[in-house]
Amino acid sequence: MKERIEQLKKEFSEALAAAATEEALEALRVAYLGKKGAITDLMKSLRDVEDKKSAGQWINEFKTLAESEIASAAAALKDAAIKAQIRSAKKFNPTLIAERELGSYHPITLCTKDLEEIFMGMGFTIEDYAEIVGDYECFEALNIPKHHPARDMQDTYYLENGQLLKTHTSAAQNAIMKKYGAPLRAIFPGRCFRNESTDACHENTFFQMEGMMIDENISISNLIYFMKTMLSQVFKRDIKVRLRPGFFPFVEPGFELDINCLICGGEGCPSCKNSGWLELCPCGMIHPNVLRDGGIDTEKYTGFAFGLGLTRLAMMRYGVKDIRDFNSGNLKALSQFKSL
Ligand code: PHE
Repeated sequence: MKERIEQLKKEFSEALAAAATEEALEALRVAYLGKKGAITDLMKSLRDVEDKKSAGQWINEFKTLAESEIASAAAALKDAAIKAQIRSAKKFNPTLIAERELGSYHPITLCTKDLEEIFMGMGFTIEDYAEIVGDYECFEALNIPKHHPARDMQDTYYLENGQLLKTHTSAAQNAIMKKYGAPLRAIFPGRCFRNESTDACHENTFFQMEGMMIDENISISNLIYFMKTMLSQVFKRDIKVRLRPGFFPFVEPGFELDINCLICGGEGCPSCKNSGWLELCPCGMIHPNVLRDGGIDTEKYTGFAFGLGLTRLAMMRYGVKDIRDFNSGNLKALSQFKSL
């Protein structure tokens, strides 16, 4: 019996070494381990053997050996097949981009870049800030305590840990004041979120660009000057602005800054609801409580802040009628702005 097994083992090893394909390996498995295979035959022949115990052990060892060797040969074959496939696959071609149409900046990115350029020219730094913030940054540090009715206008998405998606770029004011102190000139563009139903002029995700200037003797005239200069440069023509009173707990006095409608030139048209004016940039003099929370000496410094609606600005600049186009991921719509 022992000899027969040794002989079969030898034959098995030779056959295994010769099995170069998955099919050959499977045939080998059937030939040895299948119902009518050599090892199964050995088992059957056990009944005629005297020392059944040792013979059974030898056969089992052989069986285990055959099974594991076939399995590892199969794994090695699969591995080799994958490697061959990788080798034969088309190599990455770094010049391929030249054959493809180039991508383009998103219209909001285009506006942001322009504005950053303009504000940098006026001595402002550009700051980045998180999209997930705490209740403190988004509301409390902005003079909006818990249960203040102003919160109703800014419902948002809350995380289980109590953090929230920021509803306005003003959420960065406190951190930036604490970081730099006064005097300070900074803009901080960012993505904002509100839990609102969407339509042609409302989105749950949109962009704003906040700006702050804090120094000695800053007044509303500085605010108007910076706004006017910025808008004239963005739209590349002289822009008329007007201020209306507006309420935001973090500014006092607070304003809504309107620009004269660029579509009709102020005559009145459907885009400006026939008023000749468009609401673009809420702003105001930073409330002393907000300055104080930011660690600024309110005896010495005053400042203004504005929250430019970047998405709205992009809509007007490019004549986009539906705000939802911006987040649509529709390349055909978005790539139109490439050359503008
Ligand atoms: N953060 C305000 C909003 O989104 C806008 C704003 C910014 C108003 C700065 C005043 C000053 O509604």
